[in-house]
Amino acid sequence: MDRKIAVITGASSGIGLLTALELARSGYSVVATMRNPMGRTALDEAAAKAGVQDRIDVRRLDITESASVAPAIEEIVQHYGRLDVLVNNAGFAMAGFADDVALEELRTQFDTNFFGHVAVTLAVLPHMRRQQSGHIIMVSSIAGRAAHPGIGSYSASKFALEGWSEALRLEMNPLGIRVVLVEPGSYETNIWEKNVHIASAAFSDGSPNKERSRRFAEHVKTQVAKGDAREVARLIARVSTMPHPRLRYLVGKDARLYHWVRLLMPWKRYEKMVARTVGI
Ligand SMILES: NC(=O)c1ccc[n+]([C@@H]2O[C@H](COP(=O)([O-])OP(=O)(O)OC[C@H]3O[C@@H](n4cnc5c(N)ncnc54)[C@H](OP(=O)(O)O)[C@@H]3O)[C@@H](O)[C@H]2O)c1
Repeated sequence: MDRKIAVITGASSGIGLLTALELARSGYSVVATMRNPMGRTALDEAAAKAGVQDRIDVRRLDITESASVAPAIEEIVQHYGRLDVLVNNAGFAMAGFADDVALEELRTQFDTNFFGHVAVTLAVLPHMRRQQSGHIIMVSSIAGRAAHPGIGSYSASKFALEGWSEALRLEMNPLGIRVVLVEPGSYETNIWEKNVHIASAAFSDGSPNKERSRRFAEHVKTQVAKGDAREVARLIARVSTMPHPRLRYLVGKDARLYHWVRLLMPWKRYEKMVARTVGI
């Protein structure tokens, strides 16, 4: 049976892992890429439990190694003969107030959350152009619509991704290639715990923000309700099958609420509310 082919980046944990499972359950052959395939155990176990292990092919891909991205995608297309869905999911969050984040740290954030997705997308486009079809789904964030204090670097990388993707969508739509931004609120994954990057100066004695950073970290840890990431995975699987998806999909009650409050509340009130809520 000819299955559609989906490629996903950052499939070792969180939304990526769950999306790989969800797409496999929906009948796709999934190429689940990760930068270190030694970390595949969680996906393998979950796939076996769901009975979809024969539909998941784990391959190595670090999206920041630009020279190896195109050959990796080429190999996948050679092997499967086509590529129907790309889910640009890999990412991390850099925490730290603007004047605590070194320029090099900010660049690292963009290397993954922006340039990494651009590199994979550019590698996939010639194949989708030839097919005259394909879905490119960018896992952005509510932080790509509304910037958050304390994670300005992360917000900036997602804003960049949003701008690039919006233009790409307009360019590719007439060719039958659908570009979509999925914008989750807060979900229970490794992003804010094991995988979080904290700017090296954030808690140093020399930082003018040390105390505010501490209060902000406490707020994220104790007051931000985190949803079940399967909700995001299901949405991505659904969007993958839509012939004419929208450009943007906010997902999560918190994301929708934040978006509408920011749009509708007078800006000065909004600023005060944000400062009070995050304790800065
Ligand atoms: N969870 C949320 O609340 C939330 C909200 C909005 C948006 N998002 C977005 O959702 C996406 C997935 O994050 P998550 O929440 O599922 O967090 P996660 O559990 O930390 O997963 C992130 C994944 O990205 C991978 N990754 C990081 N850098 C990479 C690189 N250079 N090349 C390849 N893979 C790389 C990680 O691999 P390793 O295992 O090797 O580190 C991991 O598999 C991100 O784009 C994030 O911005 C998450």
